[in-house]
Amino acid sequence: MSKTRLIKAVPGSARAAADCLSRGGLVAFPTETVYGLGADATDGQAVARLYEAKGRPAFNPLIAHVSNLDTARQLAIFNADAERLAAAFWPGPLTLVLPRKAGCPVSDLATAGLDTIALRVPDHALAREILRAFGRPVVAPSANISGHVSPTTAAHVFEDLDGKIDLIVDGGPAPVGIESTIVACIDVPAILRPGGLSRQQIEAALGHGLAQAMETAEETPLAPGMLESHYAPRTALRLSATGVEPGEVLLAFGTPLPGAAAMLNLSESGDLSEAAANLFGHLRRLDAMGAPKIAVMPVPYQGLGEAINDRLRRAAAPKEFPVSSS
Ligand code: TXA
Ligand code: MG
Repeated sequence: MSKTRLIKAVPGSARAAADCLSRGGLVAFPTETVYGLGADATDGQAVARLYEAKGRPAFNPLIAHVSNLDTARQLAIFNADAERLAAAFWPGPLTLVLPRKAGCPVSDLATAGLDTIALRVPDHALAREILRAFGRPVVAPSANISGHVSPTTAAHVFEDLDGKIDLIVDGGPAPVGIESTIVACIDVPAILRPGGLSRQQIEAALGHGLAQAMETAEETPLAPGMLESHYAPRTALRLSATGVEPGEVLLAFGTPLPGAAAMLNLSESGDLSEAAANLFGHLRRLDAMGAPKIAVMPVPYQGLGEAINDRLRRAAAPKEFPVSSS
């Protein structure tokens, strides 16, 4: 592939995106969480191209996005917990991992051969318009090179994937800024990945507590994508910083520590939603400064803080494979 088209969202761009998907193309589009890189979930070849464009290990399955709950029910088996969560949070930043239904047309490559499938109805007008116009499920991982920081703007997508995908639809910044919370509803519900919905919100909708978030035992990850090093900038991160070392740049939360060579604040007022929305963009910008290290101030663990701390921990973990600079 040579050229990636970057278009602004205007009336008609959902149709252009759907047409491109029908031809087996790869289309990046905004969702409320992060930008997704879409492909026709039922087209094995398109899915293979998607894995290739991202440099994603093929054992890591994808989320199938659909425009509504009825369509989702045709693909997977919903138990009572799944019904409750879907009713409470779809459209929204929730992904459900459910048993795949017999005859589910999603390609085996997209689900990495598992007998479960991850489903999401995104809450973003443009994303839903594309899904409606296309009429089939769309697999959409975050639109970044595998292992790199997730994209919250069309410019982030362009930086990572120019020349590797067909189309990027620019619908402005992704408002939530952190990926969906993944909940498996197989037997007892469990959070596989903290994200844009907090554990407390999910427990309230279920009417009971959840098993503790899965630990990231790398041999048997429940969400196979939960590799220890993920969301990684190239610059090393130093977490829970209570002071700034010479030369370091600072990712602040609340009142910034003094002495940093440069500083970006997740949220001056200590607002966790604002911090989530700023997280990946700030990491990219600090990374681009080429400092020896990024010092990161502590972020509380309550609410969305669980997901923010999860991403920070992964961004700080030693890299398992070199992150491509393309
Ligand atoms: O907010 C989001 O979820 C974004 C937007 C674009 O929708 N998408 C996203 O996709 O974060 P991705 O591919 O970056 O992360 C999907 C995660 C991976 O960790 C993958 O292992 C897990 O979902 N997953 C997919 N199918 C699964 C399954 N059947 N069982 C367990 N985990 C699954
Ligand atoms: Mg991702």
